[in-house]
Amino acid sequence: MKIPRLKFAHLPTPIESLDKLSKVLGGPRILVKRDDQTGLAFGGNKTRKLEFLIAEAQEQGANLLISGGALQSNHCRQTAAAAARYGFDCTLVLTGEKPEHASANFLLDQLFGAEIVTVTDRKDRDRILQETFDNAVKAGKKPYLVPYGGSSPTGAMGYTFAVEEFMYQNVHADWMVFGTSSGGTHAGLVLGQRVFGYEGKILGISIDEPEAQLKAHVSELASQASEKLGERINFTHDDVLANENYCQAGYGVFGEGEREAIHLFASHEGLLLDPVYTGRAAAGMIDLIRKGFFKKDETVLFWHTGGQPALFADKYSQELLR
Ligand SMILES: Cc1ncc(COP(=O)(O)O)c(C=O)c1O
Repeated sequence: MKIPRLKFAHLPTPIESLDKLSKVLGGPRILVKRDDQTGLAFGGNKTRKLEFLIAEAQEQGANLLISGGALQSNHCRQTAAAAARYGFDCTLVLTGEKPEHASANFLLDQLFGAEIVTVTDRKDRDRILQETFDNAVKAGKKPYLVPYGGSSPTGAMGYTFAVEEFMYQNVHADWMVFGTSSGGTHAGLVLGQRVFGYEGKILGISIDEPEAQLKAHVSELASQASEKLGERINFTHDDVLANENYCQAGYGVFGEGEREAIHLFASHEGLLLDPVYTGRAAAGMIDLIRKGFFKKDETVLFWHTGGQPALFADKYSQELLR
């Protein structure tokens, strides 16, 4: 079955070995899959999803992309960039107080020409997103709603085929570890594992959701995504590995774990993590290594999902060097 897809990501992304970090942690071999290098406005995991989402928007004859997220959303930054590149207008509904001056992703959104609607209270975001969509239709526009985090069955295809790419790279990894939030990356990997026969384990470190909720959501999304490949596979909670132990502080709250992870990766490998997703996911991986969760002779692949522009958000840059 042919699934509409554009080709703009820089693929395959490299896999690198983090030997110094492995040594410092005294743990398993650590590899990193550089999806922070996927291209499109500083790269990140949304590039893979957007190859499918933008193709779908084009097929539907849309001329406006509407999406939503946090004020420093990476997903929204990359959606705005894709809109600019493929000739769509773009409206972003972002949660948070409008800052006095724009920085990081919020600045880049505006460089890409996105119209921004800010919502102070997160609980109003779904309603305002829907109103924005309805008003666009009334105004004669043809909007396409890019789901939060790009995490629809269509978006998840990006990570289903990322597993195929990984299999062709012919690199052994017992574990894949990454940050999971809206679930599209996770669901795509779980489906890709089944379809392309990856034999290791796929462990999502939850960024902001309790484990049970995440497993329910990811297994349902993977099941729905499988239909796009021609035949439904029913995934259950047991098919999804997730760890909720590192998200208690809440979404985007920068803590000691994130700070240490960012410093360790930067000072030993010259590699940048972001404060919200990869910083938290790496903090989880580091803690699990210290607790002996992975066997010493195993190989852990840290799937770097991007997000580094947020390092320059006023909110986080102050915190990094404390
Ligand atoms: C840098 C980064 N990593 C990971 C994630 C989580 O991916 P997903 O929303 O597919 O769960 C996001 C989501 O916005 C992100 O921006």
